[in-house]
Amino acid sequence: MTTASNHQDYRDLFVGIDVEVPVYNGKPQRYINLDNAASTPSLKSAQKAINDFLVYYSSVHRGTGFKSQLSTLAYERARQIVLGFVGADLRDHTCIFSKNSTESINKLARRFPFTSQRDVVLTSGMEHHSNDLPWRAVAHTVHVALTPDGRLDLAAFETDLQRYRERLALVAITGASNVTGNLNPVHALAEKAHQAGAQILVDCAQLAPHRKVDMGALDDPSHLDFIVISAHKMYAPFGSGALVGRRDVFESGDPDMTGGGTVEIVTLDDVVWAEPPDRDEAGSPNTVGAVALAAAIRQLESVGMQTVAEHEARLTAYALQRLPSVPSLRLYGDTDPGRAAQRLGVIPLQLEGISHFLVSAVLGYEFGIGVRSGCFCAHPYILHLLGLSQEQSYAVRASMLNGDRSHMPGLIRASFGLYNNLEEVDVLVEALNRIARGEYRGRYTQDIASGEYSLEGWQPEFNRYFAI
Ligand SMILES: Cc1ncc(COP(=O)(O)O)c(C=O)c1O
Repeated sequence: MTTASNHQDYRDLFVGIDVEVPVYNGKPQRYINLDNAASTPSLKSAQKAINDFLVYYSSVHRGTGFKSQLSTLAYERARQIVLGFVGADLRDHTCIFSKNSTESINKLARRFPFTSQRDVVLTSGMEHHSNDLPWRAVAHTVHVALTPDGRLDLAAFETDLQRYRERLALVAITGASNVTGNLNPVHALAEKAHQAGAQILVDCAQLAPHRKVDMGALDDPSHLDFIVISAHKMYAPFGSGALVGRRDVFESGDPDMTGGGTVEIVTLDDVVWAEPPDRDEAGSPNTVGAVALAAAIRQLESVGMQTVAEHEARLTAYALQRLPSVPSLRLYGDTDPGRAAQRLGVIPLQLEGISHFLVSAVLGYEFGIGVRSGCFCAHPYILHLLGLSQEQSYAVRASMLNGDRSHMPGLIRASFGLYNNLEEVDVLVEALNRIARGEYRGRYTQDIASGEYSLEGWQPEFNRYFAI
């Protein structure tokens, strides 16, 4: 069995990992961030790349000065690094920088060449809203059903695929769930999508920081046509993301956002659009964010994605072994420690009889542990995992619309990054044990409108830690 001391430590690679934060009625504690599925801390290499680059930072494209030339070179090099990281084929794919996965998916939704014959998007019931709502706005969107424990139902996928075979334009599926860490067999799904004459987008917001993504060449039947990533989930939180996808799709059609940088030539009555990726990068880009993303990718590559996956599987297995010792704790999704390598280190849980809002508040205020609670921008998936009936879901919706979120269903999510270690899992387990036994010190009041709990007398001097 794994013990809390036998592990490789990657903490030195990260910024701010050993920072102490105030906790209620106690000595400051080293902050434990278990909310990596939302956003990750920065790698030192990303921070350093930015510091080094800022000295030369200037406008990109068309600037003639040395700094502009260097900045342009750095920006375009960052693009090459992203393409290489996801195994894109440089002839067939382009990399469009964006601000995050949400923006990337919205762009694809507006740029994808739907036709009146091919107007269906097959997505699933486990998607983040960012890979669901953009499709609902532009296409007939079908949600593939899930198994009771929250996996994609592959038989249902096949049935839907056959049912919409003639109309299917795109499969839009997550590579990994931000709620359960479940992985989808994206290359097998890609093969099926291509057989049906459709294309596939894989939402890699969660997958890319933890597993090797390999898009492959377009003549490989299992290739991925489009992927999206968010740098703030990949240890480079400086406002960038990317859409990597088929060049041919972006070679035609009008960009979804127009303006400077998107054109070859403009006359008063005509516009000739630029080639990809410029056509789809309106305005001045986030060069600094792109450089940081590239530096983070370089670091991940040097650690090795296999090593990243193994380290996180060890943490996940250990957590799944230890968490069931907490009284009244219920785990969701795949709870088998033996299968930890087949999913991401994203663990949804609940303490029966205690609001998820309260548990996450106490973890933060009294134990210095950052987790997240609620529905994680995946309302349909959470309702499914909790087994709520249609009537119960409607009742929840009605009470929320009445301004009462106090009983909003939800879960607590602990999610690991490369720098987390087994000791931190121990601290989490101990904290949950104490909360389950009612051994917390503060008096908490719930705000009915938001559902969240505040702690009486909690007034840390935030300005002491950081102020602008
Ligand atoms: C699976 C998945 N897709 C998309 C997103 C949206 O990412 P962003 O907020 O960076 O746009 C998230 C964010 O949590 C996610 O987990």
